[in-house]
Amino acid sequence: MLHTLTIIRQLNADEFTSGEAIAKQLGVSRSAVSAALNRSADFGIELERRHGVGYKLTQPIEWLDVPSITQTLSINSPFSLNLIDEIESTNRTLRQESAAAGSVLAAEWQTAGRGRLGRPWVGSLGGSLLFSLVWRFNGGISRLAGLSLAVGIALARALEQQGYHGIGLKWPNDLLCPKGKLAGILIELSGDALGPADAVIGIGLNLRLSPSERLHANHAADLSDCSGPSPKRNLLFASILNELAELLPRFDQDGFAPLRSEWEARHIWQGEQARLISPNGLESSGKIIGIAEDGALRIAGENGLQVVYAGDISLRKVAAA
Ligand code: BTN
Repeated sequence: MLHTLTIIRQLNADEFTSGEAIAKQLGVSRSAVSAALNRSADFGIELERRHGVGYKLTQPIEWLDVPSITQTLSINSPFSLNLIDEIESTNRTLRQESAAAGSVLAAEWQTAGRGRLGRPWVGSLGGSLLFSLVWRFNGGISRLAGLSLAVGIALARALEQQGYHGIGLKWPNDLLCPKGKLAGILIELSGDALGPADAVIGIGLNLRLSPSERLHANHAADLSDCSGPSPKRNLLFASILNELAELLPRFDQDGFAPLRSEWEARHIWQGEQARLISPNGLESSGKIIGIAEDGALRIAGENGLQVVYAGDISLRKVAAA
C-alpha cells in the first residue's frame, strides 16, 4: 500500500502539486495517490484539494533534517542522530536494538507511540518532536529516581532559551503551559542497581496541534500556547539535545539535589492540595510540599509526611472549594 506520509512529503504549502506529477514521480497510479491522500487527516494534516489542479498543504511542514540539526548541535555533542519517517515507537526500537549510549532516534510519525502508565502517545505529523535517546549512567539505577525531573528541566531550559513563556513542570514527568500538557517524558531503565545503567529517554513535544487534534487530545497544549515565536523544529530539537548533553553528565555525577530548587521554581502544583491514585485504585490526598533531594514527591498527608516515587502513581489536583 502506498504510504500517505511518502506522498505528503511531495507536497508543499506554496503551490498545488498535481496528483499526476506525484504518481509519475513515485511510479504509482493516480488513484493510489488519491486514496493515500484521503488518509491525510489521520496524520493531522489538512489539505487543500483543487479539482484538475492538485493538492496543497494548508500549513507548511518543516521536516526533520540532519544537516539543519547538526548546524545547531554543540561541536562536542555526544549524540549520534538517526531520523526515520515512520516507526512503531522510538523508545521501543532503541530498547529492542540495545542501542549504544548516545544514540538518538527521532521519528516523523509513530504508529504505536507509548506514554506513561501504558497510555498511547499520539503526535502530529510535522507538528511534534518525537524522539528517544540512550544514556549510560555509571551510578546505577538506584540513583535515577530524579532523572525524569532532570530531563524536564532540560526541556524547559531549551524552550525558554528559544523564547517560550509560561512553561511549568508537573511531577514526575510532564511539561505544561497554562492551557495544558505540552510534552511528556517516558524513561525506561535497564542495568544494575549500583553498576552502570542504561536509560532510554523518550520525549514527545507538541509544537503545533491541528484543530482536530486539539479537539480530541485531552488537556493537550502546543507551543502556540506559550507566547513565543513560530516553532522551528530542527532548531528546537538541536537546542533540546544541547541542554540534555550538558545536564545528563552532571546529573550522573551529582544527582538531582543541585537541580531541586530550579525544579521547584517551575513546579505548577507547589503548595497545592492533590490526590494520589495508585494502580490498584487506592487514593490518598495531601498538600504537595515539594521534592526531595532524590526527586521523590513530598506530601503532607492525613498520616504525616508521605514520600512518593514515580512508579505507577498518577496525580490529580484537588479543585479549590
Ligand atoms: C507521557 O506519558 O507523558 C510520556 C510520553 C512520551 C512520548 C514519547 S514520543 C517519543 C518516545 N517514543 C515513545 O513511544 N514514547 C516516547
